[in-house]
Amino acid sequence: MDAMRILMDEHQSLAAIIHAIRHMIGEIGAGRLQPDHKLLEAMVHYLDAYPEKRHHPKEDEFLFGPLRARTHDADAVLDKLDAEHADAEARIAVLEAAVKAYAQDPKGFEAFKTAFEDYAAFYRTHMMTEEREVLPLIRKHFTAEDWEKANAGFIADDPLGGTRATARAGEEDFAQIFSKLVAAAPAPIGLGAGPYKAG
Ligand SMILES: [Fe+2]
Ligand SMILES: [Fe+2]
Repeated sequence: MDAMRILMDEHQSLAAIIHAIRHMIGEIGAGRLQPDHKLLEAMVHYLDAYPEKRHHPKEDEFLFGPLRARTHDADAVLDKLDAEHADAEARIAVLEAAVKAYAQDPKGFEAFKTAFEDYAAFYRTHMMTEEREVLPLIRKHFTAEDWEKANAGFIADDPLGGTRATARAGEEDFAQIFSKLVAAAPAPIGLGAGPYKAG
């Protein structure tokens, strides 16, 4: 089931970026790491451009919407997840403001740390709810036709799949950006390849 595999891959990539940022925040807080503001800003941009703008809409269109059409068992949890998806812009705006303020003034560190901890905690719960409460209901209620549409939809928009064949004109290469972000993160997460340069 390609839709499930791609969804789980995307959750893992999202968790990896969140883990990398948390690790850097911990090291900066402990005085062991100089902040690389470009890298932190690039990671926040990735969270906006990829999970918030691309991942959630696919879930809504190809999984959650069709599940609502099959059963009411998931209504309550889907209402909650829909509201969380709708909140994406506000959620990322808080994080963007915090990462920018920190880049301008080192005193912004604590506020950035708090904003990021909230973001990370939110995502842990959000992804766990999707995986533990909704995916089992999808497996139970989806018809062969639902699966066919969901698989096709996820394959058609799999920006982490690394195949440029599925890329849209002018879009960012998320697979490449992801590798670069993780590689630029300090060890043991990445290679600590030095100051992050976009492009
Ligand atoms: Fe989601
Ligand atoms: Fe998700």
